[in-house]
Amino acid sequence: MEAQREQYLAAIAAAEDVAALKLVESDLLGKTGAITLLVKEVSSLPKEERPIAGKERNRLKNELQKAIDTRLAELQEEALERELGASDFDPSEPGPRRPGGSLHPISIVQNELIDLFTSMGFSWQDGPEIETEFFNFEALNIPDDHPARDSQDTFWLDDGNLLRTHTSPVQIRSMQRFKPPLKVIVPGRCFRQETVDASHEHSFYQMEGLVVDRGVSTANLIHTMKTCLRALLRREVKVRLRPGFFPFVEPGFELDVNCPFCAGDGCSVCKQSGWIEILPCGMVHPRVLKAGGIDPEEYTGFAFGMGLTRVAMLRYEIDDIRLFMSGDLRFLEQFPEVSG
Ligand code: DAH
Repeated sequence: MEAQREQYLAAIAAAEDVAALKLVESDLLGKTGAITLLVKEVSSLPKEERPIAGKERNRLKNELQKAIDTRLAELQEEALERELGASDFDPSEPGPRRPGGSLHPISIVQNELIDLFTSMGFSWQDGPEIETEFFNFEALNIPDDHPARDSQDTFWLDDGNLLRTHTSPVQIRSMQRFKPPLKVIVPGRCFRQETVDASHEHSFYQMEGLVVDRGVSTANLIHTMKTCLRALLRREVKVRLRPGFFPFVEPGFELDVNCPFCAGDGCSVCKQSGWIEILPCGMVHPRVLKAGGIDPEEYTGFAFGMGLTRVAMLRYEIDDIRLFMSGDLRFLEQFPEVSG
């Protein structure tokens, strides 16, 4: 029996896969398997031999069953390893990442400016996109027959209201609401009846700024604008003021910054001039202060109207304004992903 035992154990060890092992198992331990029969035979042995034979044969049966189970586990493990090795599947790799969204370039620029100006003590105001003629024009010293009305082709609504053509009406709303000292910024969407092309859109974004206090001067205006542009363009900047005309400021200026693309040498972005027109601004017109309920004898102020869309175009070198409103994912996905 010892020889048989060895032979059976060898057969189990030699089984090369699960199917072969199952065959060996059924040959030995199946209904008519060799060991099953051997155990069954005990009852037909002479009575005195049965206890010892029974014990021995059952021990052999248990030993073989155990050897089969061990070999089965081994073979299964081997099969799994083979399978993993053959495929590219690596269970230790992190799963596929769900693509996150990204912020619209105008939101990126706007958020940066809000952070900057609120850190300088400005408060962030909002105003309605549907405005009255009074706030959009009259209170800003743009009377009915004023040519500036033509330069801001307006979407008029049937009820006599309009889609605001700039964020400046919120200057008046803020003055009426808060007493000086006053420091506000107003980012928001504006609308003009434009023929849309690569540099004109019917919808665009501006950010108005207004400071009113005793003794506010052009020097304060220039300092604030330089601080803002330095943070926005992330470098030292040179600025220059040219006279500019806007009915709600006196004097009015166009503030230019030295071109960030060519450092002032002249390139296609600055049209070879070395300067980029970036910020219309000025000292608040006394009539505008009055319309806001503020005494121009006591207070002065400065205001600016930054084109957020224009700043985003400069920052990201976007040459077609229509992309902003296109909803085109190929455009939007190029901006930094929002984490989390
Ligand atoms: N509201 C003007 C526009 O849309 C921009 C502007 C110019 C705003 C001068 C100002 C300013 O506050 O002082 O074209």
